[in-house]
Amino acid sequence: MRNWLNESNHTVIYTGAGMSTESGLPDFRSSGSGLWQQEDPSKIASTDALNNNVDAFIDFYRTRVLSVKDYKPHKGHHILADWEKQGLIKSIITQNVDGFHQKAGSHNVAELHGTLTKLHCQSCGKEYNSEEYVNKEFYCECGGILRPSIVLFGEMLPQETFQFALSEAEKADLFIVLGSSLSVTPANQFPLIAKENGARLVIVNREPTELDRYADHVIHGREIGKVLAEWNS
Ligand code: APR
Repeated sequence: MRNWLNESNHTVIYTGAGMSTESGLPDFRSSGSGLWQQEDPSKIASTDALNNNVDAFIDFYRTRVLSVKDYKPHKGHHILADWEKQGLIKSIITQNVDGFHQKAGSHNVAELHGTLTKLHCQSCGKEYNSEEYVNKEFYCECGGILRPSIVLFGEMLPQETFQFALSEAEKADLFIVLGSSLSVTPANQFPLIAKENGARLVIVNREPTELDRYADHVIHGREIGKVLAEWNS
């Protein structure tokens, strides 16, 4: 695998929640521990929840904002940041909203699903820092509710980010998926777009994913941090 990295001219990394479990954050669909094993996402992570179930919505997202502050990037995030510095990888497309790639020093990061590090008013759009949720401030000066600047189920992905990720997937000659079940559209289209444009597709995921059959190389049952450390030696 390391030789594929060395040979490649445009490597793109694609990460999901499995990239941050070794930092202590839960993912969504791991059997037993995933967030969506305990909560129904449509009832808690949707615009409907924001409008009709606001106390549960606030409670759920305040907990996630606090956990992102309590935990930090692990060695794997730092290896990816080093690889960007060395020119080994060109960009990271992430579904994660924890901001850990940037915290570890990565710059070229496309956050497909937004970020928990920022809030904005659902009514007037004014931006706030996620500290407001820590301090239990949930309303904007205009009276509107503050919500994390993430993509809720039923919302469009940020267009500019989507276009950047699309152009990166089209340019990739090596596309490496790290820690995603690849079960959510349209985010799960990027590995296929890369493959269709001639990239080698590698999937590193503890459990099987929905796109394994399209991959040139699949690694199951291994922790991402260890796999990245091996490729980094
Ligand atoms: N090493 C390797 N794989 C891991 C590790 C690890 N340390 N930890 C977890 N995994 C794998 C799990 O086996 C799981 O299949 O990571 C995968 C994470 O998949 P999901 O929990 O479905 O997370 P993700 O693919 O990022 O979800 C996509 O769904 O709810 C939405 O917006 C949310 O961005 C999220 C999207």
